[in-house]
Amino acid sequence: MAFVLAVTGSAVGLGNIWKFPYVTGQYGGAAFVLVYLACIVLIGLPVMMSEILMGRRGRRNPVATMALLGAEEGKSMNWSWLGAMGVIAGVLILSYYSVYGGYSVAYVVKILSGVFSDARAADVIAVRDSFEGSWVLVGLFHTIFMGVSIFVVARGVEGGLERAVRFMVPGLLLLLIILLGYSMNTGYFGAGMAFMFTPDFSKLTWEAVLAAMGQAFFTLSIGMGAVMAYGAYLPEETSITTSAAAVAIADTTIAITAGLVIFPLVFANGLNIDAGPSLVFITLPLAFGQMTGGTVFGTLFFVLLSFAAWTSAISLLEPAVAWVVEKYNRSRAEAAVLIGVAIWAIGLGTVLSFNVLKDVRFLRGTLYDNLDFLTINVMLPLSGLFIAIFAGWVMCRNSTAEELGGAGTSYRLWRVLVRYAAPIGILFVFLKAVGLLELS
Ligand code: PHE
Repeated sequence: MAFVLAVTGSAVGLGNIWKFPYVTGQYGGAAFVLVYLACIVLIGLPVMMSEILMGRRGRRNPVATMALLGAEEGKSMNWSWLGAMGVIAGVLILSYYSVYGGYSVAYVVKILSGVFSDARAADVIAVRDSFEGSWVLVGLFHTIFMGVSIFVVARGVEGGLERAVRFMVPGLLLLLIILLGYSMNTGYFGAGMAFMFTPDFSKLTWEAVLAAMGQAFFTLSIGMGAVMAYGAYLPEETSITTSAAAVAIADTTIAITAGLVIFPLVFANGLNIDAGPSLVFITLPLAFGQMTGGTVFGTLFFVLLSFAAWTSAISLLEPAVAWVVEKYNRSRAEAAVLIGVAIWAIGLGTVLSFNVLKDVRFLRGTLYDNLDFLTINVMLPLSGLFIAIFAGWVMCRNSTAEELGGAGTSYRLWRVLVRYAAPIGILFVFLKAVGLLELS
């Protein structure tokens, strides 16, 4: 139970409430959502199970685990680079994740101040613009968020994390349901439903499919060694299949509910569906501003969102810290501060890309856009691909069957998915999206 809670804490975060709605908006809705759901079930879940079982077998940080497992299977210890790639992806993701974690903390303060009471869309957008335009403010909240995350990881993650997750996930769901009630009364609930569930596949590009796959990895926290690092603490007798399924269900429920809350609000207020990263920081304050009791619910909501982001951030920090502790024999506190400050510094790039460096654009756009694309659409799919290859082809049947509790039906299904569906699917989508594969 503790493990399921910790992994749920890692999985449920900004990915569900901030990122899922905004990428769904950018990539056109229902077709994207369906591909995303298919990716969760067919690729995400089997890869997640693989990552957990590898972590439990290795019982070390991801880099050392991969070297150990490679050796144990009589293959190369050089598989450690896969662990390293995960750790690096985690570091880069946390650098901007922390900036948005800071946003949710800042919005607690803003809601409390009452600026959103009875605000119109234009007012809410102005509040967002003035916040985003100030590198001092965005940087300040990024610093607070990162500081608190470093503090927890430095002290060791156990006790508090579990307690946080126990009230956070049900709390978030409850508040989302209250918001759902509000959305249903806007008169645009049908439009929101249609946007999310009536697919038009003709508009689906390969890049959108790749983004849906990346989002599936991101939201389940896989491909970064986070789940692997937590798997290292998992007792032998716990079922990996059941735990992974429980996490995936909780995570998906929250994301879909968030979408159902947000899209009706977008339509009802004539907002831009592809507003990008700050979409929820416009729609939700608007709703809270108009609701009775909005200040209370709104404060509660952003507090819970900050907590959710925080439990995810901790799990993003953990693999790199575990690696420094084990490899360089540092204390946890030292390692957490060292890595944390480095990540904070990288994050300043994202902070500045919203204001001072807003017009510095290359490749995919701003610095943040590039980091986002590199991590979500390149690093995560690649590391997911190699995790699947490792669990499905490098590890022998006996090793994986032992971890997954025998060779029953669910084991066989997992093995087919992880050997064929996941690697072929990931590779195909990846090559299509980057234009290396042309089929007529
Ligand atoms: N899954 C988290 C979210 O959806 C983000 C995360 C990714 C956390 C990877 C840990 C590792 O917000």
